Amino acid sequence: MERRKEDGYLWWKHGVIYHIYVLSYSDSNGDGYGDIRGVIQKLDHIKTLGASAIWLSPVFKSPMADFGYDIADYYGIDTIFGTMDDFDELLVKAHDLGIKIILDMVMNHTSEKHPWFIESASSKKNPKRDWFIWNEGKNGRPPNNWKTVFGSSAWEKDSATGEYYYHSFLKQQPDLNWRNPEVKEEFINIFRFWLDKGVDGFRLDAVNFIVKDEHLRSNPNIIELIFGKRKFYSRNRFTSIALLREFRSLINSYDDRMLVGEIFALPPGESDVVGLYLSSGEDTLNMAFDFSLLFQRWSAGKYYKAIERSYGSIPSKGWPCIVLSNHDLSRSYGSGKERGNSIARAKIRAILQMTLKGTPFIYYGEEIGMKNCPVPKDKIKDPLGKIYWPLYKGRDGARTPMQWDESFNSGFSDSEPWLPLNDDYEKNNVFIQKLNRYSLLTFYTKLIGFRNKYPSLNRGEWAPVSKGRDDILSYMRILGSDYFLIILNFSDKEKLINFQDSSEFKLILSSEGRNIDGHILLKNFIVRPLEGLIFKVK
Ligand code: GLC
Repeated sequence: MERRKEDGYLWWKHGVIYHIYVLSYSDSNGDGYGDIRGVIQKLDHIKTLGASAIWLSPVFKSPMADFGYDIADYYGIDTIFGTMDDFDELLVKAHDLGIKIILDMVMNHTSEKHPWFIESASSKKNPKRDWFIWNEGKNGRPPNNWKTVFGSSAWEKDSATGEYYYHSFLKQQPDLNWRNPEVKEEFINIFRFWLDKGVDGFRLDAVNFIVKDEHLRSNPNIIELIFGKRKFYSRNRFTSIALLREFRSLINSYDDRMLVGEIFALPPGESDVVGLYLSSGEDTLNMAFDFSLLFQRWSAGKYYKAIERSYGSIPSKGWPCIVLSNHDLSRSYGSGKERGNSIARAKIRAILQMTLKGTPFIYYGEEIGMKNCPVPKDKIKDPLGKIYWPLYKGRDGARTPMQWDESFNSGFSDSEPWLPLNDDYEKNNVFIQKLNRYSLLTFYTKLIGFRNKYPSLNRGEWAPVSKGRDDILSYMRILGSDYFLIILNFSDKEKLINFQDSSEFKLILSSEGRNIDGHILLKNFIVRPLEGLIFKVK
């Protein structure tokens, strides 16, 4: 069924977004790196899954110090990913299938190899000097105590002019100066360039970092943060909200486009910032990531609290997003967080993801339960893994090649992949799971099918029923007279459910594959161990 905007369907709000780390998805030219033509070849997988949009990790020209998150030309495609013609073809083919394309836009920093930075670094008098954040420092030391997100000083001394430049991430990623209006003007041009091409939206990378304190005041210490006395000066400045308002009105001047922001928030002191970036819910970002579900222990009560807190932080006209994994954090499937029963738990998490209120983002491979892969030291690519090994082994484990089939290199590439394949690929891949009616992939496909079909599942209100007591998390999704009841048993024991009212329920999906015909009362009903159920209420 074609879903139409006129019927109130908004692709970014009511659909499902599929997140692709392009280097690891599908390699069309046999160089070991995934590319845009590889994505084109796999559009049928994304269509069959039922996703309404694809978010591509950055595909712009980049020296790849941070694998695309260090951009050297915002108007060009890096040859590792293909050409602009490939990108244009992807847009057309995806759109023909009713799939939208979201680009990953890095506004906080460029690559040190971007011509803007090369010019800026060349002399204190260069017209681009003020496009980045330069400072002479104090008494031979950096100007303040600001640190990168990795914990070292965020100021790098540049020998040519003797001044420090600021970088929130790697030193190869100098931060732009968003207090300079020329930077904003240039980004308006960049946005327009891609919007005019027909790109449907942007994921704004680390967008709460873009504006810094104009007086470069030092950040508070941990005690001041814990007691909420002071906040970070190096991010979350109000000026960034004003800037986002301008970008939202730019987006709104086009038809049906979207902005989702990565709000990099670290407790203590920043747990409330997601709401701040949604403002009224209609005038800044359309959505902002909240990663709280990613960090939950396996407990119905903990999940409930995280959901309630996350919904509570969103303005009434705002819209949540539901994220269970991404390219920066370990995959949770089959990891220590899961211990045994991985598939049963993954199915419960999939039900949560597809039936909570908010837009689900599926990270490639999540639909087949790809595991975090232990990448050996000599194969590590992530600069963070190289710096912090063995304390922290970097993010490569969540970025290994997509497992398509049991053939050589799992159908990802004809030559050695840039990162090793997970050693379970012969048993766990898209091809095998497609053939199995009880696989995670079949389950995801069914779930997304239900979500796409029933408006109350994709846009209804959320009303908790059991808030995690006795290992059961249950809630309703309600739209008009259309009701669904979702029951999730987080324990590996049977649980008895007793609904006192006389509503009748029709089972539409059980993660245990059980069937019940007709309508039933939920009196003395036994939920199986680690079972998730979706009922339609009569
Ligand atoms: C975001 C990205 C991450 C990248 C960083 C710097 O957090 O998700 O992958 O390293 O920004 O751009």
